[in-house]
Amino acid sequence: MAFKINNNVTWVGKTDWELRKFHGEELSTFRGSSYNSYLVRDEKIALIDTVWAPFAEEFIEKLEKEIDLNKIDYVIANHAEMDHSGALPALMNKIPEKPVYCTQNGIRSLKGHYHKDWNFVPVKTGDKISLGNKELVFVEARMLHWPDSMFCYLTGDNILFSNDAFGQHFASELMFNDLIDEHELYEEAIKYYANILTPFGNFVEQKINEVLALKLTVNMICPSHGIIWRDNPLQIVNKYMEWAKGYQENQITIAYDTMWNGTRQIAETIAEGIKSSDKEITVKLYNSARHDVNTIITEIFKSKAVLIGSPTINKGILNSTAAILEFIKGLSFKNKKAAAFGSFGWSGESVKIITEELTKAGMEIIDEGIRIQWHPDPEGLAKIFQYGQEIAVKIKD
Ligand code: FEO
Repeated sequence: MAFKINNNVTWVGKTDWELRKFHGEELSTFRGSSYNSYLVRDEKIALIDTVWAPFAEEFIEKLEKEIDLNKIDYVIANHAEMDHSGALPALMNKIPEKPVYCTQNGIRSLKGHYHKDWNFVPVKTGDKISLGNKELVFVEARMLHWPDSMFCYLTGDNILFSNDAFGQHFASELMFNDLIDEHELYEEAIKYYANILTPFGNFVEQKINEVLALKLTVNMICPSHGIIWRDNPLQIVNKYMEWAKGYQENQITIAYDTMWNGTRQIAETIAEGIKSSDKEITVKLYNSARHDVNTIITEIFKSKAVLIGSPTINKGILNSTAAILEFIKGLSFKNKKAAAFGSFGWSGESVKIITEELTKAGMEIIDEGIRIQWHPDPEGLAKIFQYGQEIAVKIKD
């Protein structure tokens, strides 16, 4: 249901309570999500972003209750990805002549998705449109997180519409950060950053510095997913700056898969070794075949070091290990140390393969890893325990 953010801006998006997977099956969304669309009323009226296509009909129906669509003067597409542009075809069917403001890359992408030649108006950083008393100022936000992404800033009300940046997959009827449990909100915000924005850390830093240099007053940050930041809105900007700079907590994450529990035993014994050597450090263990991969990725994002384990199978590694390594490679983590471990029966290639993949992912390899044939015996367990202790020391160094 639409609700007023202030006297001029109304949220007209869609809360997706049921969403549990996003980007196909790539990203878990345990708390659902929302596709935030905003109607800005002044002498002229602008609509910022739409919603995902399955909700297009519902979106138009509700929007028509809020406003006569012909009274919309400007359609703003901050980002062409389909979760925000999905209802554009339905909207533009109703108001085909209205101008659609987006970046040049936005035009390419929207044409690629929908094959329509709408009345596109390309904009660059600093371009603005007057709404009467207020203006909408555009800021290109290339690679936050697509080449077409942009923000817009509403003068007078001092609202930054940041699209995906500063968003979270979080469905709530409360919608404002001061009304939401802070721990839950940040759990979703960091998961969103870790799984989507990690590869673009340099762009995040650069863009935030650029926006801060404009010395704009920001009373509210309205992202395109989840909760609106109205209480101390710059807190999430400062968090992004922290996250963008090779973020780490005092933590090691161990992710393994196992066939007959040999590699699980290695994982658990390494963890015990680490803990015996460093009482302060947090060690988190996950079976990558049984745990949500995006949660593991978030924990890796928070860690100083990651240890990845798999037994050898068919001269290779288990599927879930391969999947997590592929994810890690794509995200280009900064400032992480890494090592591999695994059990084997015959040929024993897994540790070498994992180490190679971690190297390709840009991680600093701690050592050659640890491999154990068959199940570890007491002597093997002692060796693994000692390996864990050594890892703790190397991480501290
Ligand atoms: Fe929420 Fe990049 O779309």
